[in-house]
Order: sequence, then structure tokens, then C-alpha cells
Amino acid sequence: LHVAVLMGGWSAEREVSLTSGRGVAAALDTLGHRVVAIDMDRDVAAKLALAAPDVVFNALHGTPGEDGSVQGLLDIIGLPYTHSGLATSVIAIDKELTKQALVPHGIRMPAGKVVASESLYAGDPLPRPYVLKPVNEGSSVGVAIVTDGGNMGNPIGRDSEGPWKHFEQLLAEPFIRGKELTVAVIGGPEDGQALAVTELKIDSGFYDYDHKYTDGITTHVCPADIPEDVAAAAMRMSEAAHRLLGCKGCSRSDFRWDDERGVDGLYLLEVNTQPGMTPLSLVPEQAKYIGMSYEALVQRLIDEALK
Ligand code: DAL
Ligand code: MG
Repeated sequence: LHVAVLMGGWSAEREVSLTSGRGVAAALDTLGHRVVAIDMDRDVAAKLALAAPDVVFNALHGTPGEDGSVQGLLDIIGLPYTHSGLATSVIAIDKELTKQALVPHGIRMPAGKVVASESLYAGDPLPRPYVLKPVNEGSSVGVAIVTDGGNMGNPIGRDSEGPWKHFEQLLAEPFIRGKELTVAVIGGPEDGQALAVTELKIDSGFYDYDHKYTDGITTHVCPADIPEDVAAAAMRMSEAAHRLLGCKGCSRSDFRWDDERGVDGLYLLEVNTQPGMTPLSLVPEQAKYIGMSYEALVQRLIDEALK
């Protein structure tokens, strides 16, 4: 097949996407496909017309590859592409819209609220500790945990560093103590199957950008050393979220688990429709755990796109 790999883009996750894209392109080459790597920019439609691929591998993260924009463009051009479609992407990129879509169906998520960043200077939106995050970023870009000691020691202020300086609106959610878990789901909306549960263990702070992409500072425990009922619940919730949002190809659901509260302490934080494909990324790692190589995963995503 002739496959165009879309990568780069202009979100805060550009570098992550370039790393994902390079890994995918190398795998496609190994698989014997003809590959053209395309750096996503304003001229991408012309580049795609010139390349005329059979299928597009979407290796973008964040805007415009994870928010429905690229999906809409590819729908109009009429090219099949990997991962989720337009409507799913629009909802899943937005952590608040995701809640509105999933919570009524019984998926437990933290009860948060969207606040104007300006309002934070006047006082806390929730009792501390709480988490502030942009509604539509990935890789923990712009996430802060506000504790009784202030924001990592600093008060929220116009002069202090924090997401309130860079985003007009933020999602505030109660901080869930305990463990960070993640589950990959592969397949279509009807037959998506959870692969495994991974626990992300870190020594200090939280699973932020540096912990996601610096080799050796986060321990991935797969399968997670947690009670069977909690693992089963995480896998069931991930498959349900994948189905309810209409995810295709693969998704990765991120959780916090309050280990003092058993299964009732399990909270879905978000669903990633364009999960990372870098050497440190979790979906390839869980695929490997079930015996699927990185190359086989890439081929599976291509197969799902052409279904
Ligand atoms: N947003 C990053 C790429 C992830 O979910 O893996
Ligand atoms: Mg994310």
C-alpha cells in the first residue's frame, strides 16, 4: 500500500507527534508499504493530492489532528484514515464534553467545572487539593495540581507560572489520590477490546510531560499489580467509553484509582483518540504485552482504517 503518515502539526505536542510519526513510518517501511511522511501544515491538502496515497496514517496529537479538523479535511478529500472520525474527535479532545457524553451512561469521572482563569486570582474554585487543566490539551501540557501548600509552593497569581497564565479557561477537578492507570482499546466502536492495565509509577510530582517522555523516570507496571476486580472494571470502562464515543482503530483511557476505596475509587479522566506511538508510549507497550509487535499494531490500525 501507499501510506501517507501525517505528523507534526502545530499543537504543544508537535515534538511528540514527530516521534510517533517517525516510529510509524519506519514500521510501515519494514512492513513493505510505500511511505510518504507529511509534516502537517496549511498546505497539507495539496501535499496529499500530490502524494495520492491509498490510506493516511494519522500520527498527529492535539490540534489539528486530534480535534476533528484533519478528520473533516480527509472526509472531504475522500481518503481513508486511521483512528477516530470527526464527531468522536471533536468530543474526545474536550475533557468537559467527554464527561457530558459518558457520565450519564454510568462512567465514573471526577465532578469538575470549567472556570475562567481570571476567576482563579480571586479564590479557589474547589476545595484543595484540586487539578487545573486545559480542556483540550494532551501530554499533561498546562496541568497543575493545587495543594494546601499552594501551586507546587507558589500561590496562583498573575506573576506566578501556571496554566492560568496561558489559557483563558481551565477545567478544575478534585485531585484523586492514589494511582495512575491506563488502558488501551483496539478495534472499532462495536468490537473494541481492552488490552491490559498499566500502572504509571513515579517517585515525586505527577505523571507530567517530563515523566511521559524522559526515559527511565517513570516505571510502567504492565499488567498493573492491582486487585482483579479493579483491573476488570478499568478494562470494562475503557471499552464502554470507546464504544459510547464511537472510537475507531485505538483509544487509550486514563484513570486515577483511589486505592483506599476499592472499585468505587476508580475514575476515568479522559479518552485519548490519538494516543502516542513513541518508543515510551503505552499503547505499543500493551500491544507487546498481548504479543502484538509495534509493526503488527501499525498494520492493525491500517486494516481498521480500510474496513
Ligand atoms: N497525548 C499523548 C500523545 C497520548 O495520549 O499519548
Ligand atoms: Mg490526553
